[in-house]
Amino acid sequence: MTEPVDDAAARHVPVLLDRCVELLAPALAAPGAVLVDATLGMGGHTEGVLRALPHVRVVGLDRDPQALALAGRRLAPFGDRFVGVHAVYDEMRAVLDDLGLPAVDGVLMDLGVSSLQLDEVDRGFSYARDAPLDMRMDPTTGPTAADVLNTYDERELVRVLRDWGEERFAPRIARSVVAARARRPLERTEELVEIVRAAIPAAARATGGHPAKRTFQALRIEVNGELEVLGRAVPAAVDVLAVGGRIVVEAYQSLEDRIVKRALAAGATSSAPPGMPVETADDAPYLRLLTRGAEEADEAELARNPRAQSVRLRAAERTRPTPAHRRPAAAGDAAPRGSRPARRGGPGRPARLRSPADTPTSTPGPVRPAPSPQQRSRSVA
Ligand SMILES: C[S@@+](CC[C@H](N)C(=O)[O-])C[C@H]1O[C@@H](n2cnc3c(N)ncnc32)[C@H](O)[C@@H]1O
Repeated sequence: MTEPVDDAAARHVPVLLDRCVELLAPALAAPGAVLVDATLGMGGHTEGVLRALPHVRVVGLDRDPQALALAGRRLAPFGDRFVGVHAVYDEMRAVLDDLGLPAVDGVLMDLGVSSLQLDEVDRGFSYARDAPLDMRMDPTTGPTAADVLNTYDERELVRVLRDWGEERFAPRIARSVVAARARRPLERTEELVEIVRAAIPAAARATGGHPAKRTFQALRIEVNGELEVLGRAVPAAVDVLAVGGRIVVEAYQSLEDRIVKRALAAGATSSAPPGMPVETADDAPYLRLLTRGAEEADEAELARNPRAQSVRLRAAERTRPTPAHRRPAAAGDAAPRGSRPARRGGPGRPARLRSPADTPTSTPGPVRPAPSPQQRSRSVA
């Protein structure tokens, strides 16, 4: 892997930073307030929050150890106001348990890949430059894009390309991949780009951007289980919010945004069956939407940050505890047991059921790294 350039601030401009801070600030007003930045990346949003709100502490999660290392160096001047944890974001509840935090006041999720991941040629996220077919956000674990391409049967490949890439030529591309790998296993992004280019009719290649764009998006989503994890993570993030706590999510493609929209709308909607004359307390909404639909970047933001092009920002505030019947399946541990990708640092602890949302305002003690090697948390700050 090429050495990362150690200028995190220059490499990734945080999208809609001011708006994120504005939306989160009312929930982070109390001394000792804690924000979880579930997608720390290079720490741009976290740095913005730590500067704007000098009493706030941030727990930053990322599944990419390289991002954690870079962000850790960038945020070192903030001392124990920041702690970084290597984790997949649907593990948020377990991470906070390890840190002794029963609830937090804000959660920020800035989805997708970072500029660091796109720029690091060897990681294989980009169709623009030749590299090994990897695409793992956490290069220490899990199958690579090459594994997917060389082992999935043709029908599975069609499903991946169509469902995650919305690629209308999925069957043609899948057939070409299977034919190519019969000669020898695919190893490089350049090989894949050529296969896709040749599989797509010339007339279609002339429109819709780079012909391999949708295939690369599909593979990245599959390799990292992105949508499955996100589907668990948004309810888990809401679940760790204290009453009055706020969640802000930035999505960059429609599949992600749909998951976010549904999860927030579910909490902002009564669960009373249609036609019921009265709504019981249990059925009342527990979220208040803070954005009307999804917010997009304005011209000024787009001019300074091309990454903001496709952003869809949604936010909500917890208004009351989540009724027991509406909490995530295993609220102490968002992922169904056994369904998570393997994590570093041991198998993790059994779920502990807690009711963070019963806590009116979180008053957590100092944020500290996990004390036991059995736990996955580790500070890089
Ligand atoms: C768009 S970047 C975040 C950039 C960050 N807001 C900043 O300003 O520097 C997204 C980050 O989230 C991380 N990420 C994506 N999916 C994740 C997941 N399921 N769990 C933990 N981290 C994830 C990626 O590794 C990447 O570093």
